Amino acid sequence: MESRIIILLILATLLALCACYSAQKNSDFLECLTIQFQNSNSAPDGVIYTPRNASYASLLLAQNQRLAPTSSERPELIITPFHESEIQAAVYCSRKLGMEIRVRSGGHDYEGLSYNSENPYVIVDMRNIRSISIDNDEKTAWVQVGATLGQLYHTLARKSKTLAFTAGVCPPVGVGGHFSGGGYGMMSRKHAIAADNIIDAKLINANGQILDRESMGEDLFWAIRGGGGTSFGIVLAFKVKLVIVPQIVTVFNVSRTLEQNATHLVHKWQYIADKVDENLLLRLFLRSVRSPIHGNRTIQASFTTLFLGRVHDLLPIMQDSFPELGLVEQDCIEMSWIESTLFFAGLRNESLDVLLIRTPQTGIYFKGKSDYVRQPIPIHGLRGIWRFLNQEAENRAELQFSPYGGVLNTFSESETPFPHRSGNIFMIHYGVSWTRGGTAESERHINWIRRLYSYMGRYVSKSPRAAYFNYRDLDLGRNAGRNTSYEQASVWGFRYFKNNFNRLVRVKSMVDPSNFFRNEQSIPPVSSS
Ligand code: FDA
Repeated sequence: MESRIIILLILATLLALCACYSAQKNSDFLECLTIQFQNSNSAPDGVIYTPRNASYASLLLAQNQRLAPTSSERPELIITPFHESEIQAAVYCSRKLGMEIRVRSGGHDYEGLSYNSENPYVIVDMRNIRSISIDNDEKTAWVQVGATLGQLYHTLARKSKTLAFTAGVCPPVGVGGHFSGGGYGMMSRKHAIAADNIIDAKLINANGQILDRESMGEDLFWAIRGGGGTSFGIVLAFKVKLVIVPQIVTVFNVSRTLEQNATHLVHKWQYIADKVDENLLLRLFLRSVRSPIHGNRTIQASFTTLFLGRVHDLLPIMQDSFPELGLVEQDCIEMSWIESTLFFAGLRNESLDVLLIRTPQTGIYFKGKSDYVRQPIPIHGLRGIWRFLNQEAENRAELQFSPYGGVLNTFSESETPFPHRSGNIFMIHYGVSWTRGGTAESERHINWIRRLYSYMGRYVSKSPRAAYFNYRDLDLGRNAGRNTSYEQASVWGFRYFKNNFNRLVRVKSMVDPSNFFRNEQSIPPVSSS
């Protein structure tokens, strides 16, 4: 009995010491920032938020409820800078006080690494660093990282009917994480990924210096175009090459169930999706739904498509390459490119201003994973996937098959850190979401997606089994703290970057040898000794 009381007393003392230590860190950081702000004539109001501020909780709101920080995991401070000097101050104070920095642009990281950490940390939230300036003549744009994809598309549409950019489909996704980690979208077979179109950048390094392409050098500039920004610094803005689109494009979303031959359509799709005209991107969404015909569960395959041209040019291409789908003119809608961004975001008929909404969807728990497919999956393999999809509730689990080929094949694997080029037919995105909290509920869905992933091993890329960095997945491996080894990081690193991982490690070792910018899947430095 006595020993129990002693243990309880020790625990209570430890907890009190921890709370005290944390409060001390918090006030030291605040004091450091205040001094730095005074030196650069910045005002901390509306920039620094402690847990005592009323807006702190809403600023902390997690995009993915599964990863929402608990009260003991909350950041000491959230900083929402308006000026570069405020970010430099945050870097300086974090270094001085040994506090981790998590940088958040749009907050869509699949594992919450932009707003969560096991160690004492601060969040630098880039939401106020979000201006966009477009050069119509040069057909380029400087885009600050806190802008969202929706804001970029909206700004482009206000400037021109034919200037566009190639990036993802979800409007609230942030430019900072998305561009630095890749950025696949509905025009990627024609115009590649966002990172392939970056031509300059501004970044704050671990010493607080502001660098552009020229001053950072080609190695670091290479690294932040697909290797993720977070290992190398805080990216402030990217300069990108814009693309020209026709005034009218064509979209369709045709769905077929198993009763309508979906298995054979999906099977055939794998033989044409990466080979058809590069103006055509036929993306495939697979879900388990309730059949409107017999009321039982069935699989629905939705062929969601963008064609950079008019319907009369699309129909012969579809007839030639994929007649089995039975596409007819009535299935197709002609519209402007900007309207197509609303269509693919599921926001058709909404006003363009809906693209500017950046508030996260709340209350959704989510887990995602990815794979690359280099050989078509046989019919019996597809049937196995259907069985998995039927194990989850209707519409809760989804597979996306995103076709590669086209211009993606013209890049060498090492041109940027994003290595997924020639030889890939398509990428698979696995996703499952749920709305009830609790460990048991989470485990059930996470186990389901892990079992599906294990089943898929026989059908997807091998040695390494490749994955897309922007669909971050900590199941692939994680670093062991600040002094993680090359070997530990290799476990996940080669999956995302193949042999580019080695160059990323060399760049990291040059620009951040003390591993100041780090997280559970950041590139580790190696010592030169
Ligand atoms: P967030 O702010 O969480 O950052 C992601 C990572 O980048 C974190 O590690 C963060 O620290 C780091 N980072 C962010 N800003 C930085 C900066 N300024 N400097 C340095 N490091 C920085 N992908 C895709 O290719 N095509 C698509 O269509 C979609 N669609 C999509 C929809 C939805 C609903 C989600 C949740 C995700 C996607 N994605 C996607 C994946 C998306 O590209 C990926 O999650 C991006 O990293 C998100 O970037 P954010 O800035 O929003 O995230």
